Amino acid sequence: MNQTIAREDIESLLRWYVDQGIDETIGEEAIDRFALPPPQAAPQPSQPAPAAPSSIRSTPIRPAPIRPTPVGTAPAAATPLRGPVPIESPQLVEDARALAQRCNNVEELEAAVRAFDGCALKRTAKNTVFADGVVGSPVMIVGEAPGADEDRLGKPFVGVSGQLMDRMFDAIGMSRERDLYITNILFWRPPGNRTPTLAEQAVCMAFTRRHIELAQPKVLVLAGGTAAKSVLDTTEGIMRLRGKWTSLSLDDGSTVPTLPTFHPAYLLRTAASKRQSWSDLLSLDKKLRELGIR
Ligand code: URA
Repeated sequence: MNQTIAREDIESLLRWYVDQGIDETIGEEAIDRFALPPPQAAPQPSQPAPAAPSSIRSTPIRPAPIRPTPVGTAPAAATPLRGPVPIESPQLVEDARALAQRCNNVEELEAAVRAFDGCALKRTAKNTVFADGVVGSPVMIVGEAPGADEDRLGKPFVGVSGQLMDRMFDAIGMSRERDLYITNILFWRPPGNRTPTLAEQAVCMAFTRRHIELAQPKVLVLAGGTAAKSVLDTTEGIMRLRGKWTSLSLDDGSTVPTLPTFHPAYLLRTAASKRQSWSDLLSLDKKLRELGIR
């Protein structure tokens, strides 16, 4: 049957993909997953898989599990990675930690992150997104992961949610040009903006914890549930965590007052929660005054 697809139908399908967060082509040809044979059963414990040759293991990566988006975090969509890519492993987390520990300042850490090939996300990302703002600022903001705009420009929080974040901090007289330092728990964009896997988070977190130590902020702000859970190493959701100050203990023995708050992408979808975010900002302002910073 010779079937012609109307241009409007194609346009509307493409719009639907973009709305779902599927805004990049990963491979040259589409895969018809309905036509593929069912996945193989996992090997039984009595048949161990052959050991990979090096610490950076080359294993075909499976599509990351699609997890529900926790309230207050960026939206997630899943796109499968293809081909042999390094998969995060406990050894890689150790490698990342050892590398990070050897860095004596933020510039060295940035160079180490850019040279690090142990996170599979780097393979599909256009850029490493390390940080923006002023190193040594009193306030360090840690978000989740670069999106399409951040990936393209190589800077965190430069898309619509970043613009909202800028306006929010402007309301308490703070800006990334003057007194904010901004990063993410992930340095590379997850394909299709899917939620980063725990393995991806673990390997990048080795650098992020050192990043916080070296940047020495007076106060840390965690934007969204994924960043808050990952940095605070908790399963508690952002609804319970937000607005409550906690003290983050770092590996060098220092501690930093830390405030989890909603992710700006969540606020764009849920305007009613802006009231709580405003109260978090006022609490931040108060804390800075108590610390004699403002
Ligand atoms: N969302 C984040 O968490 N980080 C960014 O850099 C952009 C959007």
